[in-house]
Amino acid sequence: MKLTALLGGLTIFPAPQSVPRFPALGPTTSRSVRTNNMLINPPGHPPVPHLDEVTTSSFNISNVQAEVLIVDPTGFKKLMNMVIPTISTVDIMLDMSTQPSASLNMAFSQTGLHKLGIQDNLNDTVFSGGQFADAPNLAESTNTWVSQFKGTSIHGVYITASDSSNSLMQQNSALQTVLGTTIQVVYSIQGQARPGDQAGHEHFGFLDGISQPTIEGFGTPLPGQVTVPAGKLLLNREQDQMTRPSWTIDSSFVAFRQLKQLVPEFNTFANDHPASIPGMSQAQAAELTQARMMGRWKSGAPVDLAPLFDDPVLGADPTRNNNFNYTHPGFNSSSDQIHCPFSAHIRKNVPRTDLDPIDLAHHILRSGIPYGPEVTEVEQQSGQTMMERGLLFLAVQSNIASGFQFLQKAWMNNPEFVKHKSVLPGLDPVMGQNNGSARFTTGLDPMNPEGNTTLPMQFVVSRGGEYFFMPSLSALRHIISS
Ligand code: HEM
Ligand SMILES: *[C@@H]1O[C@H](CO)[C@@H](O)[C@H](O)[C@H]1NC(C)=O
Ligand SMILES: *[C@@H]1O[C@H](CO)[C@@H](O)[C@H](O)[C@H]1NC(C)=O
Ligand SMILES: *[C@@H]1O[C@H](CO)[C@@H](O)[C@H](O)[C@H]1NC(C)=O
Ligand SMILES: *[C@@H]1O[C@H](CO)[C@@H](O)[C@H](O)[C@H]1NC(C)=O
Ligand SMILES: *[C@@H]1O[C@H](CO)[C@@H](O)[C@H](O)[C@H]1NC(C)=O
Ligand SMILES: *[C@@H]1O[C@H](CO)[C@@H](O)[C@H](O)[C@H]1NC(C)=O
Repeated sequence: MKLTALLGGLTIFPAPQSVPRFPALGPTTSRSVRTNNMLINPPGHPPVPHLDEVTTSSFNISNVQAEVLIVDPTGFKKLMNMVIPTISTVDIMLDMSTQPSASLNMAFSQTGLHKLGIQDNLNDTVFSGGQFADAPNLAESTNTWVSQFKGTSIHGVYITASDSSNSLMQQNSALQTVLGTTIQVVYSIQGQARPGDQAGHEHFGFLDGISQPTIEGFGTPLPGQVTVPAGKLLLNREQDQMTRPSWTIDSSFVAFRQLKQLVPEFNTFANDHPASIPGMSQAQAAELTQARMMGRWKSGAPVDLAPLFDDPVLGADPTRNNNFNYTHPGFNSSSDQIHCPFSAHIRKNVPRTDLDPIDLAHHILRSGIPYGPEVTEVEQQSGQTMMERGLLFLAVQSNIASGFQFLQKAWMNNPEFVKHKSVLPGLDPVMGQNNGSARFTTGLDPMNPEGNTTLPMQFVVSRGGEYFFMPSLSALRHIISS
């Protein structure tokens, strides 16, 4: 398995000694000798350097995502020749002394590939149909979608990231200088790691980026980490089930979603539905409810191992915080929700021993970053979201119908999943969707695990997105030379 090739597909950024350089990048920014690491490594994340780290929400950054139209495909391809030699591998990203001042990723929609003259069928019908057409399968209305995502007009996306807003601005203007009027930005949104001790946490407050699949042949997995065949994440690798054009090797499909989070509303719900553990304060009981919805405490500690109270030491320990499987001696895992509800977000997405044999087909690599401001005092007190915030969600996989779409449709949205339990689990209370109709879930209260709760609203509202093809370096060369 090739580290270089794999991450070539995921992380594209100017190399320190790149020739030619982006015109707008001066020597100090394009060749940084860093004194600080661009990646954050909050307690609980696998240690840096770690393969998965580069694709998770681990940048100490601002990040800009720009959805673009390719106005002049011929000019675009020609100018991309200047960008391609600057593309480098993840080795550089993992070594602080060679990290660039800003990273760059690029991916194309089906419309964009057509525009660039690629007529080959990449054999992913969900990708080629686009996300707008897929909304009914995800059980969501597109009424809440950002208008630019409605339809199939977006051609591509570039993602720049840096820990310095100056470098980020420079990187963006450099890119725009190079590509000039061959592209037109139609939508852009800035992601932002949360401040202080919330770095690495999403807006509900939970540490994110803990559990990722690792790829067969890549070193030793951490305890509890699942190992999947390379072809589950990369095209044309072992156990990619589909036949693809050979030039797509080591590329991936990416599901991008802008997911708005209603944080004060999420908190109000928990306050109104505290777990009924004798002797627990209202605040502790409300926190337990939220932890059971997620399957983890805010620190990252899994409720399966810490069922009643948060355990920040466990949450911060990457050798223990992912090492659980929902089975416990003396408990029947068909009915045990004392530890973790069947419907919890992480259990719905990765059911571990709930499926026998353990599932290897439906894994994604997640790479999200929060966007929007911190919750204000006024919002917290009124219980109402007034300013948009949420997660810029990115899922990497080789097959969208088995990856992102499957998890949303067949597991999170499906009240019957996981089957053969003592109670119908209901929806994932965090991310399950039901076309805007009432959602129910079970297992929120460990004292009444069969209890059925109607959720008053969706705490996460989709603002839409698009499906993209993220080429490996060789695939990118193929595209621009076609
Ligand atoms: C705003 C929306 C979302 C929030 C706030 C959220 C939050 C979280 C958190 C806090 C974790 C636990 C940390 C970790 O294990 O890395 C997690 C895990 C996970 N989430 Fe989400 N998530 C969201 C949307 C999604 C979506 C749309 C999907 C897939 C379609 C997804 C799939 C997963 C998976 C696969 C895991 C790992 C579970 C495991 O391995 O145990 N999430 N999420
Ligand atoms: C992020 O970078 C800033 C500026 O270099 C630094 O002050 C801060 O400590 C970093 N945060 C983390 C979590 O590493
Ligand atoms: C949501 O609505 C679409 C279109 O009407 C339908 O095809 C789909 O089955 C619905 N999904 C759910 C979970 O009700
Ligand atoms: C897609 O892959 C499947 C499975 O290998 C194959 O049967 C089918 O012919 C392929 N379709 C295209 C358009 O390549
Ligand atoms: C689940 O985890 C426990 C504790 O680590 C272990 O003893 C058991 O073998 C695991 N079960 C499965 C099916 O992997
Ligand atoms: C576990 O519970 C299920 C359903 O609640 C039941 O059918 C099964 O017999 C139980 N298994 C054991 C070993 O008690
Ligand atoms: C929970 O309530 C919903 C809506 O009334 C219902 O469809 C579902 O079957 C109930 N589930 C359980 C486990 O009682």
